[in-house]
Amino acid sequence: MKVVSIVGARPQLVKLGAVAQAFAGTEHHHVVVHTGQHYDPELSDVFFTEFGIPQPDFHLGIGSGSHGAQTGAMLAAIDPILDAEQPDWVLVYGDTNSTIAGALSAVKQHLKVAHLEAGLRSFNRRMPEEHNRVLTDHCADLLLAPTDEALRHLANEGLADRAVNVGDVMVDVCFATRDRILAADRPLAGLPEGIAADEPFLVATLHRAENTDDPERLATLLTALADLPVPVALLAHPRLKAKADQFGLKLDTGAIAVGAPLPYADLVAAVLASTGVVTDSGGLQKEAYLLGRPCTTLRTETEWVETLEDDWNVLVPDPSALGPDAWRTLASRPAPQAPTRTPYGNGRAGAEVVKVLEERLA
Ligand code: UD1
Repeated sequence: MKVVSIVGARPQLVKLGAVAQAFAGTEHHHVVVHTGQHYDPELSDVFFTEFGIPQPDFHLGIGSGSHGAQTGAMLAAIDPILDAEQPDWVLVYGDTNSTIAGALSAVKQHLKVAHLEAGLRSFNRRMPEEHNRVLTDHCADLLLAPTDEALRHLANEGLADRAVNVGDVMVDVCFATRDRILAADRPLAGLPEGIAADEPFLVATLHRAENTDDPERLATLLTALADLPVPVALLAHPRLKAKADQFGLKLDTGAIAVGAPLPYADLVAAVLASTGVVTDSGGLQKEAYLLGRPCTTLRTETEWVETLEDDWNVLVPDPSALGPDAWRTLASRPAPQAPTRTPYGNGRAGAEVVKVLEERLA
């Protein structure tokens, strides 16, 4: 079986880590196409080294741009590769512009498409990720869902017969990394200056367009983080830096200590060392849950609804209400009980993906 994986943005490279490893022990031919949506080394190269993923077979070097320009450039560049490769499956990941570009190129060439992390919904039609995931699900032949909730969404949209729950590949990577860190008693690396690892601190990220692209909202969010009574390690995505610069907003203020996005193992180690997480990232909400750290999500909704149980994750759409929630483990709100359920699977989703691709091909 020949499978072409199409990836391009940071979270897809983490998921690719699990899938590439599962393919490594088989006779299947796994070809990797990197669109170049993310190109800064800390958002891209670092993951290939860290997870031992072979260098991409094709690197398209597309880079940044408006949604249309970026997606269109990817489509034009993916077309000839798929035409030449003629894979049994094209595998696309998550909900970025690289996902929809890969899916569209494949479906228009009558190649079979599998969507990993299918069925997630925020029901917020203003999010570019929601457009990408809904459109990809509806054009894919095989929907690899990470949870039962995702399966329900797909069934509600008439897609049940193409869908299967394989578990979440992020769990494979998160637990393997956690176990390596705990076994090696690995020192913390890459935390921003001003964060003392043996004192309480929060890990924060902010990059969603709905939070970064409106100057007023971004200013309010930064003020809320700066006013927290505990140091905040803000691992700043380039989009956040670019927007703060453009709007004349300072990131390094009050409780905030600014650092760069971390390699995956350093991020997991930072979350383990932290008191909690404040974020708008889907991946980080789940990682906090899996690692047993309370999370505060700066959005009106989450696709990962399982994390909301027992207040492991609390949605705070209004940044002025951030204080008590983000601080809840240390002050008024009690720490949640450890998660007892495993809604995201058992950490062997990568192997399950390969198995289902084999079965559905037959
Ligand atoms: C993209 C995904 C988002 C995902 C996120 C993970 C889409 C629509 N969005 O958002 O779903 O959660 O990746 O990180 O696909 N930039 C750099 N260096 C880079 C990449 C980007 O400086 O290597 C800057 C540029 O100013 C660029 C901006 O970040 O314009 C946004 O990058 P883009 O890839 O369009 O979207 P993300 O915000 O990264």
